[in-house]
Amino acid sequence: MAAPANTGVFVTFEGGDGAGKSTQIRFLARLLEDAGREVVRLREPGGTAVGEELRAVVLDPKNDNLSDEAELLIYEAARAQIVAEVIRPALKRGEVVLCDRYADSTVVYQGYGRGLDIEKLRSLNDVAIGGLWPDRTFVLDMDPADALKRARRRNAELGLSEKEGRFEAEQMPFHTRIREGFKLWAAHNTKRIVVLDAADSPEGLMHQALANIDMFE
Ligand code: TMP
Repeated sequence: MAAPANTGVFVTFEGGDGAGKSTQIRFLARLLEDAGREVVRLREPGGTAVGEELRAVVLDPKNDNLSDEAELLIYEAARAQIVAEVIRPALKRGEVVLCDRYADSTVVYQGYGRGLDIEKLRSLNDVAIGGLWPDRTFVLDMDPADALKRARRRNAELGLSEKEGRFEAEQMPFHTRIREGFKLWAAHNTKRIVVLDAADSPEGLMHQALANIDMFE
């Protein structure tokens, strides 16, 4: 059954760097806007003035001495702010929120990637989000070697290679752990998380995504 237009819907996209999340969000936003929905597009970390400043700090390659715990708390601080300032109010107004990364990224990058304790990450995530999990999460799954080529090309085109390269600079075993981590985490959360093959065309992926958001049926 279609959700009434005044019901907020929260959808997140996850996956390794360069898997095509922002393209998917752009496609989906345009389609939903054409169908008359108010859509808020966000990215994490970021989406608020404070969050964008924290993003600049946490992704700056010159901060390569950040401890894993400090890195974690910066992501959670940015998340607490975007939830309070943007996501909750938008959902209350009945809008569709499409977010590029969210709390699942912390479980996978800081947990499976950096090796921090997953249970502690769950608790910290809950401090930041207060139980506000997405209605649907899509993991765009892709071979990390291909995805990284895309991410590096995009960063170079946008002139971001100097400022946002901290994760792209990680070695292949890290990115392989991220891919496997997303698959494992998705397998633990099958009601909410759907894994899509990011090698499909952007149009194909969008239709798969739509078919898996029952609020838009
Ligand atoms: P992106 O916006 O280009 O995907 O970059 C964000 C980077 O930050 C990406 O490499 C994943 C990483 N990240 C974490 O490590 N933990 C988190 O909680 C989030 C949101 C992102």
